[in-house]
Amino acid sequence: MTTDIVVAENINAPALDELKTVFKVIVDPNLWKSPEKLLAMVADCRALIVRNQTRVSADLLSGAKRLEVIGRAGTGLDNIDVPAASVAGIVVVNTPDQNSMSAAELTLAMMLALARKLPQADRNVRGGGWDRQRFVGTELYGKTMGIVGLGRIGVLVALRARAMGMHIIAHDAYVSPDSVAVTETHARLVELDVLLGEADFVSCHVPLTAQTAHLFNYELFKKMKPTAFFLNLARGEVVAEQDLIRALEEKRIAGAAMDVREQEPPAASGLSAMENVILTPHIAAFTREAQDRVVTSVCRDVGLVLSGGKAGNFVNFSKPRRNENKTVASERILI
Ligand code: MLT
Repeated sequence: MTTDIVVAENINAPALDELKTVFKVIVDPNLWKSPEKLLAMVADCRALIVRNQTRVSADLLSGAKRLEVIGRAGTGLDNIDVPAASVAGIVVVNTPDQNSMSAAELTLAMMLALARKLPQADRNVRGGGWDRQRFVGTELYGKTMGIVGLGRIGVLVALRARAMGMHIIAHDAYVSPDSVAVTETHARLVELDVLLGEADFVSCHVPLTAQTAHLFNYELFKKMKPTAFFLNLARGEVVAEQDLIRALEEKRIAGAAMDVREQEPPAASGLSAMENVILTPHIAAFTREAQDRVVTSVCRDVGLVLSGGKAGNFVNFSKPRRNENKTVASERILI
């Protein structure tokens, strides 16, 4: 029996067990680390399920002659060559609404942890200290939250920050002042330079694209207030990490929280030694609830496509177009 579905990362949930009752599924949590093995495995399967670590490149897809659907268990699509998949007639599905709340909640947690120096205080007590004066923090109340990228997660962050009594300013080139995102959050839309100059917390919520790669560089960090904190829970490559380190070393900003890194897992870096930096291993979406929703959603769509049905959360088109005229337009506008 040939393989129907290859799962190239660590995905394990009841929804996947259900798929296994109908399809032949191979789960190899480490497959993403071995491009050659991955190539061999996808050469003859109908569906590939990944998180963010598997590089689904045009090369990989050119060898995947039977592939009908790529399931991205998560939101970001930067690891998948969607245009190449579309040309090959392969459906791409992701799970955009399923983990945004978890990402937003971690952003708030990070903001509070930065403001109140929680990791440092915890380390102090564990080390036998009780240095209360070292851990005088700041309130979020009355401070200005600067959100770069007022999409799904940015909006959820803004609403929660507002509930903490913060003023919300946002920069998003794709959002208009009369959009629901702005009306609901009461955010003041501003130019990026204005946001950097005014915000006490700058939080990045943009996808990784050619336009956003290394968006946050030294020049931008220099525009922030020296008392301000920077947070990145979006994509590591949006930040020029060496520039961030320089800005922190020169005390151009007060601290940073990084859930994502330029390289994951990261190589040894100056960030690890910095007291005012909080580092987590890309866990924004890692809650029981989000993971349950994400895996359920991606498995449902993959199962539907393989059974001849239409995917719900498709990125390009709802059914495979392997044998169709490839000039047929995508059902969704691709960005
Ligand atoms: C996402 O894009 O959904 C999150 O960053 C989590 C992930 O990459 O799996």
